[in-house]
Amino acid sequence: MGELGKLGGFELTYPNKATRQEILRGERANSLIDYRPNTSEGDLYCGDNLPILRSLLFDRGMRGKFDLVYIDPPFATGSRFESRKQSHAYSDNLRGAEFLEFLRCRLILLHELLSDAGSLYLHLDSRMICETKIILDEVFGSENFRALITRKKSNPKNYTRKSYGNIADYILFYSKTDSYIWNRQTLQPTEEHLKEYRYIDENGRRHMRVPLHAPGVRNGETGGEWKGMLPPPGKHWQYKPSTLDQLDADGHIHWSTSGNPRKKVYLDENEGVSVQDIWLDFKDAHNQNIKITGYPTEKNPELLERIVKASSNKGSLVLDCFAGSGTTLDIAGKLGRRWLGVDESFEAIATICQRIAKGTARMGSFRDTQLPSLEEVLLFPDEPRHFGLTVSRSMLGTLKQQAQQAGEHQADGRCELSRILRFFDDDEVETDLSAIGRST
Ligand SMILES: C[S@@+](CC[C@H](N)C(=O)[O-])C[C@H]1O[C@@H](n2cnc3c(N)ncnc32)[C@H](O)[C@@H]1O
Repeated sequence: MGELGKLGGFELTYPNKATRQEILRGERANSLIDYRPNTSEGDLYCGDNLPILRSLLFDRGMRGKFDLVYIDPPFATGSRFESRKQSHAYSDNLRGAEFLEFLRCRLILLHELLSDAGSLYLHLDSRMICETKIILDEVFGSENFRALITRKKSNPKNYTRKSYGNIADYILFYSKTDSYIWNRQTLQPTEEHLKEYRYIDENGRRHMRVPLHAPGVRNGETGGEWKGMLPPPGKHWQYKPSTLDQLDADGHIHWSTSGNPRKKVYLDENEGVSVQDIWLDFKDAHNQNIKITGYPTEKNPELLERIVKASSNKGSLVLDCFAGSGTTLDIAGKLGRRWLGVDESFEAIATICQRIAKGTARMGSFRDTQLPSLEEVLLFPDEPRHFGLTVSRSMLGTLKQQAQQAGEHQADGRCELSRILRFFDDDEVETDLSAIGRST
């Protein structure tokens, strides 16, 4: 597939847009060293995701291995983000074309890493979502665009600024091919929905009656006659005449007294209402009882649960290369998927270590700048979870140094990171103390 995709035929131009070849051939992460426990559910990589993604692709045999990629990159906000304990987490400085090119480089590599059954979900807010849609059409092909999900991210705001309250963000969903993993997600029918099943047939089955035709003129079989009837002007039959005959023979078509056929949709055959592209039920931490890590911009775990369930299977490999507090990784692991996470922020890596090993704490437990006490953190003593860690040799010294600054406080992710870093040999530490968590 060309970069412009089959249906697109146009592209975004901006200064310093690299060619695909230049992006693929760029610098790879060098001298990566790994810690791999036996019963590992996933692997965490520390560092800039661009060279790491290239290494996964070209050096570590991961091309086509991932069934699901979810990313929640910086949103081009121009802000600096701190954790609840006021440690620097990451900076979100890139704007405009620079931001787009930053994302595009990663998207080209992620496309190569996805399996043919794979999907990508990209989370952004209203600042760059439109421009990014065009970039994704170029990289994935517009024919592989599946949905633009609107998520309600917070409660209504009572701003006085001259616009509408900003409570939505967006998730773009693309598949690599048209045969991608899809596990239909459903919701319990609401009272309002149940009212639509207002008919009872001769066998006592509750059903609703829906039209057999849909808008749009078709020239093939579905545009022709069925039982001597043409579809209404401007419409076509939803099924081929042979299928309509079968539905009728099975008693699944209701004929009105004026001879109008409608399909019966039975309540007892419906496993729930399909999830639509507006998600209202996954606001980010909004009350004191919700469990969080304290990392800034962490997403609602239930949002990730829906995505992981819909677009991967047990045993699938799931990738999040802007892992943050590890929401995707945690949920993927809990749902029996394997995962690979990348983040370049020290705070993120320490948070993920804490989260996977020890769990999250109630939001109300983060008092002022204090960490929650150990008792307030949900522990998994009976089910220890293990994961691998990969760092570049040049970064190991800095990581060890930063992790050692962990206080006495047992609920600090640095303690957990420090524990894992002991598995790396001190001989592997280089003197170059290049900073992890530098500004993006
Ligand atoms: C919005 S946060 C992700 C939050 C995450 N979804 C969660 O639920 O916690 C974005 C993350 O991307 C990371 N990041 C930004 N640029 C990066 C890069 N070039 N390589 C690796 N990580 C990066 C930041 O450190 C930050 O943790």
